[in-house]
Amino acid sequence: MKNFKDKVAVVTGAASGIGRGFAERCIQEGMKVVLADVEERALMHTAEELSAAGGIVLPVVTDVSNPEAVDALAKKTIDSYGGVHLLFNNAGVGGASSIWESTLADWDWILGVNLYGVIHGVRTFVPYMHAQDEPCHIINTASILGLVTMPGSGVYNVTKFGVVALSETLFHELAAQNSNINVSVLCPAWVNTNILEAGRNRPDEFQNVGAKQPVLTPEEEQAGAEFAQAIANGLSPLEVADHIFRAITEEKFYILTHDITKQWIKEHTDNILQGENPTLAPV
Ligand SMILES: NC(=O)c1ccc[n+]([C@@H]2O[C@H](COP(=O)([O-])OP(=O)(O)OC[C@H]3O[C@@H](n4cnc5c(N)ncnc54)[C@H](O)[C@@H]3O)[C@@H](O)[C@H]2O)c1
Repeated sequence: MKNFKDKVAVVTGAASGIGRGFAERCIQEGMKVVLADVEERALMHTAEELSAAGGIVLPVVTDVSNPEAVDALAKKTIDSYGGVHLLFNNAGVGGASSIWESTLADWDWILGVNLYGVIHGVRTFVPYMHAQDEPCHIINTASILGLVTMPGSGVYNVTKFGVVALSETLFHELAAQNSNINVSVLCPAWVNTNILEAGRNRPDEFQNVGAKQPVLTPEEEQAGAEFAQAIANGLSPLEVADHIFRAITEEKFYILTHDITKQWIKEHTDNILQGENPTLAPV
């Protein structure tokens, strides 16, 4: 996809962080943007700000873990703007707990948003894009934690490895059909967003009622504080949007935002090839 003017973008997780930055960049490119997010107040606020700045935007409150809601998002997009050219499956949440201490509610909530959200987006929008027969692009947000792992975020790691696997498979399937749709996977490291407050959008049905709070060791507390600092010092969402737009126009699949992560990916692959046990990437 090379021409963006007057084309239509759908962005999930658009009320904050990377999604909002990408929506702003789409507007700068002259696109109409459907803003989808579960956090209604933040979504309406974002829509007001972007339209006051001259953007053509349509906010649609959407829980991406709900297939009917994603279906309704697609219908609203087509009814309002007549088509869809860019889909950014980006909404995501995280939580910190060991694999065995993560509750089933943790697994259901995080898998629902991060993995099923992307599954629903692809299943729903690909048929519309095929029918249009114009250049289209899908970008799925994974993470560097979709390519290497980090202790304490196992549920998140699983979802993001899943998003990379889904996206690679989709890439091969679309290429085999000579499709009008291209696909990329976004694997950022640290970006300055509200991701560490993801619990703000956790539905009641997935709360850990009465669950024991894990007691952190001083080392774990220190690691958590350093991670929060790295996020605060991270790239801006608009810088990430630059990486994404470059990948779309150059038809690149993997979008890495930090060169240092290439070393971690290499070590991860070398370990597998050389029969070594996993080494820890300093995420
Ligand atoms: N910030 C980082 O350093 C970083 C690094 C790697 C990957 N990511 C990924 O980037 C994506 C965007 O996160 P962010 O960092 O911008 O965080 P953010 O919290 O600022 O934005 C995430 C948005 O997703 C929305 N959301 C949450 N649950 C939803 C649901 N069920 N349906 C629809 N929307 C929902 C939130 O309301 C929020 O607006 C996520 O997939 C995250 O995993 C972030």
